[in-house]
This record gives sequence, C-alpha cells and structure tokens, in this order.
Amino acid sequence: MVSGRADTADAPLVLGIETSCDETGVALVRGRELLVDTVASSMDEHARFGGIIPEVASRAHLEAMVPTITASLGTADVDLSEIDAIAVTAGPGLVGPLTIGAAAAKALALGLGKPLYGVNHVIGHAAVDELVHGEFPERVMALVVSGGHSSLLLVEDVATRVVELGSTLDDAAGEAFDKVGRLLGLPYPGGPHVDRLARQGDPTAIRFPRGLTARKDQAKHAADFSFSGLKTAVARWVEARVDSGLEVPTADVAASFAEAVADVLTAKTIAACERHEVDTLVIGGGFSANSQLREMAASRCAAAGITLRIPPIRYCTDNGAMIAALGSAVVRAGVAPSSLDLGVDSSMPLTTVSV
Ligand code: KG4
Ligand code: ZN
Repeated sequence: MVSGRADTADAPLVLGIETSCDETGVALVRGRELLVDTVASSMDEHARFGGIIPEVASRAHLEAMVPTITASLGTADVDLSEIDAIAVTAGPGLVGPLTIGAAAAKALALGLGKPLYGVNHVIGHAAVDELVHGEFPERVMALVVSGGHSSLLLVEDVATRVVELGSTLDDAAGEAFDKVGRLLGLPYPGGPHVDRLARQGDPTAIRFPRGLTARKDQAKHAADFSFSGLKTAVARWVEARVDSGLEVPTADVAASFAEAVADVLTAKTIAACERHEVDTLVIGGGFSANSQLREMAASRCAAAGITLRIPPIRYCTDNGAMIAALGSAVVRAGVAPSSLDLGVDSSMPLTTVSV
C-alpha cells in the first residue's frame, strides 16, 4: 500500500459503501491511503441457484450493512464523527442492492451532516489502484473485467473525465467463463474452475473464434468485445464430439477458450493504448484474477512498453475500498456533492464519474 503520502495526509476522511451486486463493502480512505476495508459476501446463498438472485442479495445487504460499518470503524478505531464525507455506489448494478447502500449512505450523511457522493462502480474498479500503486499518471487506460462488465475506459482524470472507448456487446468475460464452466460440468461460479482446468490443457488445441476482430469490425467496434459467439462455438464443438461418441478433452477446450478470451481482451486493449498514446494500463474487476489474461497482458504490455498495474485480487473483486478511493478523488477534485434525494441508476453511463 502507498501510505502517508505528503500530498494527501491531511485530506478528508471518506467512508465508502459498495452494494451493487452480492458484496457489502465498507472502507475508509484518507487521500490515497486505505485505513480499512471490510467485505461481507452473500455468494454462498446464490451458489445453489447458479446465479445472483437480486432479492436474496438485497436482503443480505440489509442484514450485513450495520454490522459491516460497525466492524470497519472498529478495526480502524475511527468514530463516526471523524468522517468527512460518505461515498456510495450509485450504479451501475442491481437496483435493489444499490438502493440498500444508497439508503444507508443517505442516512449517515443526513445524521452526521456530512456531504454525500454517489459514484460509478465501474470507475471505482480503476480508482482503487491508486491506493495500491499510487497516483495515476495524466492518462491511463482501464480494462474493467468481471462477471457483470467488460469495459475499456480512457481515464483522463479519474475524478472528472472518463471516456468509454468500448464495452462488451453481449456477455461479460467472467459471465462467458461461468457459462463455459456450466457446459463442462464445473461448479458455479465456473470462472476459477475453467482457469484451473485451462492450465492443464493446450491453448492451441482448438482455434475458437475471436469476436469483433475481423477487418470489417475495426471501424465501429475496435474497442468493443463480444463473447457470446465464442461461448456458442465452444458449445457446438463439445456437442459435435459427444454426438460422434468421442471423449471431450475438457482441459484443451478450457485452455483454447481461455486463450481466445485473453487474446481478444489484450489485443484490443493494447491497440487502444497505442491509438490513444497511453503508456499505463490498469486492469480491474474480479476477472482480472484470470491467469491466462494476467500472463498475456504482462507479456504483451512488456513488448509494447506499457506499464501494467493490477491491484491484488481482493481489491479487484467488489469491495468498499474502490468506492472510498473514487469518492476521495472526487472530494479532492472539489466536485459538488450529490443531492440527498440521489437516485440509483442500474445502467449508469460509464462517462458519469459521480452524480
Ligand atoms: O468482480 P466479480 O467478483 O463480480 C462481479 O461480477 O461483479 O467477478 C466475478 C467474475 C465471475 O464471473 C467469476 O467466475 C470470474 O469473475 N472469475 C474468473 C476467475 N476468477 C473470477 N474467471 C476466470 N478466471 C478466474 N481466475
Ligand atoms: Zn464490479
């Protein structure tokens, strides 16, 4: 962690609350220093359904909110009265879960008489890296990949100016892994299981399609992703093997699929860095745990002279630190606080840093 930075040591103390999906995250950040990060997850309650159930997640947030805030303050030995501002995820995410976090944040802001900042979850996935690797250079590229999003952002100023270069047109990278995991009979969420299996297979065994990489897609979709065609191609390939009475080489299927996803993500991201003359890439979101992506990003960034920054995995999955980090940047930039009647937005535009 970068801590005690002279430029931010006397910065406001920001409490961050994250509830966009199944993690209840609460954290305290001063400047770019993380004081505490506490996360409660309801993932175990969703596993038996094979997907996140919004109503189950909402109830879990409601039950976890006060204990998580109390635990966070206790660990940091901070009193509520010491907090200077409250940041909360305003979107994108699941409406019910977002509403629980926003209600908690509003209650705190009103009760403490402190400003409220509704911030963007996806941009938070990039901002959290400032707590780990220090202040961003003037412009950075951010690839945010998870079970819910796959977005490429040009971050000109993390607090005020973010350009959305591209996003997935269908499935997110983690979602595609989860679907292929199900197809291969692996437990939910399948992503980490497919990753593990892929490490035992041959990534060149099967040439699966690379979505939106054809010459005709370059003009309109240079920085967009599409993984549903790839997922269907994997399903067809496996079906054909089964229909022919042949054994399915699951490790080779997983490795070739993972290779296709990592290839498209890194090729398009590095091409965007070159097009926009950006020499620092931040990768965030839960899918950044993926070993095929990490390896390919490291080697391709090194070859292209791009500095690669990936926070430790606990700051890549959903957490409160990312929201406190972005809130802190927004407060320090002097952006006006949100209104206390702040509404959540399940499809908040990725160009909106705070509302
Ligand atoms: O950010 P995250 O924890 O939750 C959200 O989606 O917001 O991301 C979880 C996603 C799931 O789809 C999970 O299967 C995938 O990321 N994932 C992985 C790996 N670790 C997590 N996918 C592939 N390889 C991994 N090692
Ligand atoms: Zn996320």
